[in-house]
Amino acid sequence: MPTDFPLSWKITALVCGVMLSWGSSFSESTLGPLKKTLIKKLDITNAQYGAISSATSLVNTVLPIVGGYALDYYGVEWGSLACSVFIFLGAVVSAAGSNQDSFGLVMGGRIIMGFGSTVIETCTSKILAHWFQHRGLGLVYGLDISIGKLIVLMARATAVPMRDATEFWGWALWIPAIVCFVNLLQNIFYVWWAWSRPEWAQIPTGQKLSREQQQNDGLRAGNDQATAISTKSVHRTTVLPDWRNLLRVPRFFWLVVCTQILQAGTVGGFNGLSADIITLTRGSTEQLAGYTSAVQQVIPVVAAPFVGMFFDLVGFRMMFVSLTSAIWILVYCLIGYTETNALGSMVIASVAQTMNALPFLASIPLMVPSQVELGLVFGIWKSFNNSGSVVVDMIAGRLQDITPGGTYERVIAFFVAVKAIEFCLGLFYGVLDRRYLSGILTMSEKKRLVAEQNGSLPEPIGRRPSKVFTRVGFTLACSLIITAWVLFILYSI
Ligand SMILES: *[C@@H]1O[C@H](CO)[C@@H](O)[C@H](O)[C@H]1NC(C)=O
Repeated sequence: MPTDFPLSWKITALVCGVMLSWGSSFSESTLGPLKKTLIKKLDITNAQYGAISSATSLVNTVLPIVGGYALDYYGVEWGSLACSVFIFLGAVVSAAGSNQDSFGLVMGGRIIMGFGSTVIETCTSKILAHWFQHRGLGLVYGLDISIGKLIVLMARATAVPMRDATEFWGWALWIPAIVCFVNLLQNIFYVWWAWSRPEWAQIPTGQKLSREQQQNDGLRAGNDQATAISTKSVHRTTVLPDWRNLLRVPRFFWLVVCTQILQAGTVGGFNGLSADIITLTRGSTEQLAGYTSAVQQVIPVVAAPFVGMFFDLVGFRMMFVSLTSAIWILVYCLIGYTETNALGSMVIASVAQTMNALPFLASIPLMVPSQVELGLVFGIWKSFNNSGSVVVDMIAGRLQDITPGGTYERVIAFFVAVKAIEFCLGLFYGVLDRRYLSGILTMSEKKRLVAEQNGSLPEPIGRRPSKVFTRVGFTLACSLIITAWVLFILYSI
């Protein structure tokens, strides 16, 4: 068991890790408030504008897995540099589009940026998990979510002032590009810092491990000639990653990710539709919309670190999955089937929003303790999330179309049903956790560390891979990605 890292290292890693993606989230979030400006200045339609956001979400069905795997293999340092360069280049191309009034450039830049912006989030998760040695991750990941939302808030608030500050509207794209450049410099600092740590403290990579292994094999082979040959072949065979690592993903992770398919999409779908539903059931809500969106974003900023801290100090991560879905069901019913005040419901919704992803994010490093698989599993998680969201959006759209009068009744019923399943799933995970993971998802951080130290925590079955789970998980991932692409091509183009 490696010792704890010094506090100053942890703080440096925390600041650099959490701030890794502020440039990309800032520039991506300025786009929303500029929608009308872009449509006018670039002379495009609403559908063309929609293409900008859809293009990145389709790229993000496959890229997180490949990118996450590359991070595990080549190391987060190279990965975060590559991502920051993509993000900066994308921001510059996008901003150059404002000088030319060219829709193609603006959109092309966004796609280039998309290549970096999701994978860099996985860099953050890996960096935090390593430098905190998988301890106190609830609080740390909670802080990450909180800062991320804060940056989105800032971007939304500053987008229009940046546009109006001078004659030239393009500053609203050039200033984010400058922000991305500063972010790139800061990431170079992190990489310099990480590489100047002693060898034993650095983040292990798949490449290093397989090189060591091959060198050992070579030594074992005995005679000098064999060693010479095998060290030469080492470099050839370790340049490209080995896809068999996919077979090492623990079964408990596959179980959770496969049963969560529709969940993230339901939450996202409701967020996208809620303003529309409120307008339909309660009349115009222009003023309300402003309030709610502000309230909705402030609550997670403040509350996410506390929820995370609760997981570290008390535990009960999977119980929160059930609790959160119960709150979602309440919100959906209030908004969809009653005429009660919408503001109240939206405040409750933002509480659920705070607790939505965190129990899972904080649990993934507990299910998958190995740093060289963490990027891959976070990638799989994101890919399921993104392709599941495309599918749910399409289902919701079809359901509304076949409802007489085009109301949201059946859509809401569908959302409630999905969340009812989630409620049961949360209880089910809790039971499985006690049986197959020795209860580490239910335990507090302290209890787990004590149990680990005195060896009363056997290597749980749930952390071992299983062929059946891998096969089912892999098949599901592929079918979900293909479904997402097919649905997108059929209905959006
Ligand atoms: C799914 O992805 C969205 C967008 O990146 C994110 O806001 C949400 O928290 C994710 N959900 C889960 C359960 O990870």
